[in-house]
Amino acid sequence: MGRKKTDKIVFENISVLDAGAKGVSVAKAPDGKVIFIPNVVPGDVVDIQTFKKKKSYYEGKAIKFHEFSKHRIEPVCSHFGSCGGCKWQNMEYSQQLFYKNQEVYNNLKRIGKVDLPDFEAIAGSEKQFFYRNKMEFSFSNARWMTDAEIQSGEEFDNRNALGFHIPKAWDKILDITHCSLQEDPSNDIRNEIREFANTHDLSFFNPRNHEGLLRTLMIRTASTGEIMVLVQFFEDDKDKRELLLNFLAERFPSITSLQYVVNSKANDTLYDQNIILYKGRDYILEEMEGLKFSINAKSFYQTNSDQAYELYSITRDFAGLTGNELVYDLYTGTGTIAQFVSKKARKVVGVEAVPEAIADAKENAIRNNITNCEFFVGDMKVVFNEEFIATHGKPDVIITDPPRDGMHKDVVEQILKIAPDKVVYVSCNSATQARDLALMDEKYKVTRVRPVDMFPQTHHVENVVLLEKR
Ligand SMILES: C[S@@+](CC[C@H](N)C(=O)[O-])C[C@H]1O[C@@H](n2cnc3c(N)ncnc32)[C@H](O)[C@@H]1O
Repeated sequence: MGRKKTDKIVFENISVLDAGAKGVSVAKAPDGKVIFIPNVVPGDVVDIQTFKKKKSYYEGKAIKFHEFSKHRIEPVCSHFGSCGGCKWQNMEYSQQLFYKNQEVYNNLKRIGKVDLPDFEAIAGSEKQFFYRNKMEFSFSNARWMTDAEIQSGEEFDNRNALGFHIPKAWDKILDITHCSLQEDPSNDIRNEIREFANTHDLSFFNPRNHEGLLRTLMIRTASTGEIMVLVQFFEDDKDKRELLLNFLAERFPSITSLQYVVNSKANDTLYDQNIILYKGRDYILEEMEGLKFSINAKSFYQTNSDQAYELYSITRDFAGLTGNELVYDLYTGTGTIAQFVSKKARKVVGVEAVPEAIADAKENAIRNNITNCEFFVGDMKVVFNEEFIATHGKPDVIITDPPRDGMHKDVVEQILKIAPDKVVYVSCNSATQARDLALMDEKYKVTRVRPVDMFPQTHHVENVVLLEKR
């Protein structure tokens, strides 16, 4: 589809005003419309060429810089700009926190329209790099070529790549040589797998034709030093598979859990797959405040372990427990928050939709000698009903940590019906959180708010809100 000529306009000497949603910055065109521009920093003054024109906004890119923002810094990563992962690496961390805080504030104000207390200072991450405990990479035999490579005119015979999807391009993989998000030996494992596969003729996946041996790679690390590596194969070739897995086991004895999957389905999600243990244990252990949590290949665990501790500490502090309370932990996942607050509560009841997560939660509670937590499986809007409350008791405090969509309206209604004294609402999407706060405004006022940064270099931000009964 050809582009309309009118879409391509150049605006000169435009000041970048704000860092907007999804990590894209915002400026204003002379006609008053908003322009969304990636890879610039508020305070830059640029010429912008637009590539999309909509009724109320343009999308464009900076083609010339007249002034650089005083908050602009040199990105540490050589893949910055091509890789969509860390869009804010070119902005000082203090500014990243400023814009994250502002996004939460704007959402709660504009969408929630509720009265707000002064925010408590956003909890920044001490580690601004190498903070992730889980990374997933994809193999492809059709590597994404950078502009520089294309312009060089050079022929590239080997286009094998092991890295990340290019934003908005499902079949394009950017080859990653060094990623600053996960601690070593993550980079070594990925790079050595690529090299071994290339020298031993192990084929990389072709996402268009659906062929090739190697499909995805997941690496999970833990503060305990344990490491999980899971290789997803597309073709079922035992000899080649074992060649690679034996190499990995020998070369990286620090891997405590080596697993694989043979997946010839159209999509590469692991959740419906039979995961096979090749060497070691089928889980790794994470530790927090003396509690141990086992994480298997399919488990959800907060991706930034250090900041998960901050998030949970703030949550527990907001809940203000004295030891006498019955607490419900809605959307409990593997029961981490439930167990974290349990020693300050009389009893904690956790509810979660994924049965494997609840099985982990129960196992972890036994491992941690916790006897005052109970866990139940089910879709929240179905399980969290009158009968459930009659059986398990009326909670004094509800902690809720829903997925990005926020809470189902039936769940909000049920909370309003039983009206516990306090609700602590943990959210990874302050827009849906704001919507839910508005629904609860008749009975609850927001008394504490504290955003938490779990993902430095990205625009993502977590937020914890305390609601108290009016
Ligand atoms: C943001 S995570 C929170 C996990 C947990 N609190 C933690 O910190 O590890 C949201 C959880 O909600 C679960 N979930 C999503 N939709 C659900 C539903 N309709 N009913 C119950 N649980 C659901 C997900 O499986 C996920 O474990």
